[in-house]
Amino acid sequence: MKLRSIEMVLPDAADAADFLVNVWKTNLAAVQNNTHYIRGSGAFPYLVALEEGDSKYVRSVTFVCDNDELSALKDRVTQSGFPCRPEVCTDLGGGEGIVVELPEGELLRFLVNTEEAQTIDDDDLPVKLTHVVFNATDAERTADIVEEVLNFRVSDRTKGMVFVRCNDSHHSTAFARAGFSSLNHIAFEMKDTDAVMRGVGRLRDHERTPAWGPGRHGPGDNVFAYYIAPFGAVVEFSTAVEKVPEDYKVGAPEDWTWPENRIDQWGMSDKDFAGLKVAEETFRFHRTWQPEPLN
Ligand SMILES: [Fe+2]
Repeated sequence: MKLRSIEMVLPDAADAADFLVNVWKTNLAAVQNNTHYIRGSGAFPYLVALEEGDSKYVRSVTFVCDNDELSALKDRVTQSGFPCRPEVCTDLGGGEGIVVELPEGELLRFLVNTEEAQTIDDDDLPVKLTHVVFNATDAERTADIVEEVLNFRVSDRTKGMVFVRCNDSHHSTAFARAGFSSLNHIAFEMKDTDAVMRGVGRLRDHERTPAWGPGRHGPGDNVFAYYIAPFGAVVEFSTAVEKVPEDYKVGAPEDWTWPENRIDQWGMSDKDFAGLKVAEETFRFHRTWQPEPLN
């Protein structure tokens, strides 16, 4: 199971694509069906879909998996009773599978038989998405549900978040203890720390400063630099997150404490809590389809 992409709807999708392509630095893979598809250097056909619409919301977050995983998922999702439907994907790269709505509204799509693209040799492009994080009213309950229904595994708990993996990467998603449900942020995996730092420099050329970072997180040990994109969402440059074994010992909040005045390993930067909070409330999930039986 791998995190692949996020599909967002927003007004002025072309402007958002322009920021991601020309400032953040990604490639425009295609424009079709009112949607700009943004890709990185890896084999996924796109990482972010930006669909033109009247309001801002997340249509889905997409994972790719194999047929056995999809078949087991269908059984567990059906048993859960959560709204779901079979999906024939009309986004770039095609594929088919299911989409399910979790109790706090998160729309997760699982696809098989998706196409891959030729990789691109460019160290300044993100390779892929490394995680998409959600805000949750009840992060613990949501984490229990994704373990039970999606077969994901909790890697660590901190005071602020529950980190969840779907393969040997420490986390592909996390649920922030936010008190509301929305998109928290989208993290792009850069080739290495230098590529993150060159990204920070590129944004500086465009008079943009990080909302938090550069820094290095505790859980997952990944380098980060967060920005508030002009289209309203929080985006992150990150690098390869820690790989963990199947029997990784789940950390508790008391295992992840910081000395005074620190909230990351480096302590280099301030965090724009107020600006980030506004951005984190911008994109909610919105289901535009009617549930249908999966089989
Ligand atoms: Fe992150």
